[in-house]
Amino acid sequence: MAIKHKDLFFDYPEYWPKPNYDFSKLSMSENEFQLGRQLFYDPILSRDNTISCASCHLQATGFTHVDHDLSHGIDGRIGTRNSMTIMNLAWNTSFMWDGGVNHLELQALAPISSENEMDETLANVVDKLNESKKYKSLFFQVHQDSLVTGQKTFLALTQFVVMLNSYNSKYDKYIRKEAGGDFTEQEKNGLSIFRENCASCHKEPLFTINEFKNNGLKVDTTLNDYGRMLITQNSKDSLKFKVPTLRNIQFTAPYMHDGRFETLQEVLDHYTADVQESKTLATELKKTIQLSHIEKVDLLVFLRTLTDKEFLFDKRFSFPNNNL
Ligand code: HEC
Ligand code: HEC
Repeated sequence: MAIKHKDLFFDYPEYWPKPNYDFSKLSMSENEFQLGRQLFYDPILSRDNTISCASCHLQATGFTHVDHDLSHGIDGRIGTRNSMTIMNLAWNTSFMWDGGVNHLELQALAPISSENEMDETLANVVDKLNESKKYKSLFFQVHQDSLVTGQKTFLALTQFVVMLNSYNSKYDKYIRKEAGGDFTEQEKNGLSIFRENCASCHKEPLFTINEFKNNGLKVDTTLNDYGRMLITQNSKDSLKFKVPTLRNIQFTAPYMHDGRFETLQEVLDHYTADVQESKTLATELKKTIQLSHIEKVDLLVFLRTLTDKEFLFDKRFSFPNNNL
């Protein structure tokens, strides 16, 4: 399946659901994609020109912030949440751990204006871009008009991030019965354990149901983050967070909204031994998941099949190498 307006293709496998994102505002041109890529990797979007989107969203780790439990922004300030992966965003129905942003084209305003992240105003960003010869020329190539506006800036960032799609892992090749997709007995067994215990929330093929659930983590009493409830003010949403995708999970450590777990082993120990009972705990987790040591190993081996090296090392998504 593919969506195309100009010269850019948005491809995805046939058996995937239709994307939720409405592509009509994007030009779907290579020029806009490249403009978005420049912006994504450029610290010009932050107040003191030190932090870019890529500072917290690194390609080789599935566009998340490696080695940081809570993300690190401007002046070394620490945020309250773990950076999220950026992939397959066109299928999301909301953004952020609590779903606080409901439209991809507006999402970039949050990190730009957050005082712990880039601490900049949109007006200043637009002024800085309008003063730059390089950007005037790049915006002209997209819009035949060199005036930079906030909206055009957001659209270009969207054009870049919406193309970051991952569907070429070993798991995908197994499903498509392609070369490189032969599952070992252990991987097959891991997949069935996954389907039985995890897929009700981390549903194939995107490995998320795009809903908010309480998966039974202990409340961290310093952060006191109640997740979705902060947005809806409804106590039924207390401690619910967005079910994240598990694609490329091998490389996106640390895990959970506050990055509390360093390893997938710890994640499995949580699900099998440490799920906290509470009013909002997901019904799927009320009954303890029981896995033997061997079953845990098989499940971990299966999770590694979600690694998509073609995506993680795709040069089209990397730091733009140019002398503009
Ligand atoms: C200082 C670190 C930091 C910077 C800089 C940063 N982000 Fe993020 N990003 C995060 C964190 C943390 C979250 C989760 C926020 C939350 O849940 O409150 C996030 C979430 C996101 C999401 C939501 C993903 C999803 O599946 O819901 C997108 C998209 C995103 N960032 C894109 C960007 C873009 C584009 C930029 C540059 C304009 C950027 N980020 C800059 C840390 C950062
Ligand atoms: C009831 C729904 C539900 C079930 C069932 C479930 N999860 Fe989750 N999972 C979640 C939610 C919600 C989060 C995010 C929680 C948070 O950060 O507060 C999550 C987070 C994760 C993460 C961390 C992802 C990241 O990017 O930080 C991993 C890994 C994970 N789950 C694996 C599993 C495995 C393996 C199973 C089966 C043993 C499983 N989950 C079962 C809802 C579920």
